[in-house]
Amino acid sequence: MINGINPLGHSLRWGMVGGGETSQIGYIHRSAAQRDSAFTLLAGAFDVNAERGLAFGTALGVQPERCYPDYESLFAAEAAREDGIQAVSVATPNNTHFAICRAALQAGLHVICEKPLCFTTQEADELERLSAEKNKIIGVTYGYAGYQLIHQAREMIAAGELGDIRIINMQFAHGFHSEAVELKNPSTRWRVDPRFVGPSYVLGDLATHPLFIAETMVPGLQVKRLMCARQSFIESRAPLEDNAYVLMEFRNGAVGSMWASAVNAGAMHSQKIRITGSRASLEWWDEQPNQLRYEVQGEPVRILERGMGYLNARALEEDRISGGHAEGLFEAWSNLYRRFALAIDATDRGDTAFLSDFWYPDVHAGLAGVRWVENCVRSADAGAVWVEC
Ligand code: NAI
Repeated sequence: MINGINPLGHSLRWGMVGGGETSQIGYIHRSAAQRDSAFTLLAGAFDVNAERGLAFGTALGVQPERCYPDYESLFAAEAAREDGIQAVSVATPNNTHFAICRAALQAGLHVICEKPLCFTTQEADELERLSAEKNKIIGVTYGYAGYQLIHQAREMIAAGELGDIRIINMQFAHGFHSEAVELKNPSTRWRVDPRFVGPSYVLGDLATHPLFIAETMVPGLQVKRLMCARQSFIESRAPLEDNAYVLMEFRNGAVGSMWASAVNAGAMHSQKIRITGSRASLEWWDEQPNQLRYEVQGEPVRILERGMGYLNARALEEDRISGGHAEGLFEAWSNLYRRFALAIDATDRGDTAFLSDFWYPDVHAGLAGVRWVENCVRSADAGAVWVEC
């Protein structure tokens, strides 16, 4: 159980690039990082507009001289200080992730980056190589993976409670962009512009989340080949898709599917992962994240509840309030940031034994997501053909 004690006994000096006043995702980064005091926000280049960034940073309590106009001056000035930041989070539009992550690693910082990590596998390979060379982590904020019941599923699957894994169905299909909302909303506008998001919209923006959750539930899951079809129901979004279907075959013999959509009118999120084995199935839905549905063939359905004593130790480890009370996305993210802190600290101490058995969404997970999107686009653009992965 987590009770707010700083897991490190000291706080990491931390900065942010992006996540400014009007950003969608900045606040959850700050809230999660500072929840258990393992990170202290000391510096940032919070906004593409330097003046706004300064005003916002100081309003957050950051010293004005440590609110920088851009990430280059942030990294250079902080590296020159004895008390400079040790880690940085990157919460900017997707087209900037690669350059900012690379510069951060080169400046000797640990990095926590938004998904998708970058646009191409070459870029992701370079970040993976640089992260190893500099001995700094890259954590990727696949935030939903911090929910405790994802780890309950992982342990049950590892223990063989589902039997052989046969089918993995994933979806993240909301309805918020059923109309051309980008005409009015700047946070949506860049999401449908290839200059900012690269080769895909919903595949990178949405599908990488349930894909990572499935990979967390079934460790070692690898796509052997896939076939993708994508559509732009709002025509002005073409060539970017606002809806996509992917069929997959996995190396362990299982098959699966992904439905990613921003035009599933009426749906709030509809992010679901269903894992079907030869004996039983598990299903998790992010709109009811405190429940995990467990269906054994021939038996009544069971709903496993977060925080209850019958869960495995790994799923109870990050319980913050005990069963019966709802935890949500802010707690899931806090769990992830706690893990990023532990990974950073163990890396700095050279504790390879700890790291060898420690889970968090790392640079390899970021690379896997980028490779998957690249293969989906390759398949779709060739006319929805099977491609080897
Ligand atoms: P947004 O458009 O709402 O906010 C972007 C922020 O970054 C703004 O404050 C902007 O001023 C700032 N910015 C842009 N370029 C910058 C630069 N070069 N230097 C410094 N600041 C800069 O975008 P949103 O929705 O917050 O998304 C940001 C990232 O977070 C994206 O990569 C997105 O895919 C990801 N995201 C992840 C989610 C998750 O569940 N992990 C959920 C929502 C977004």
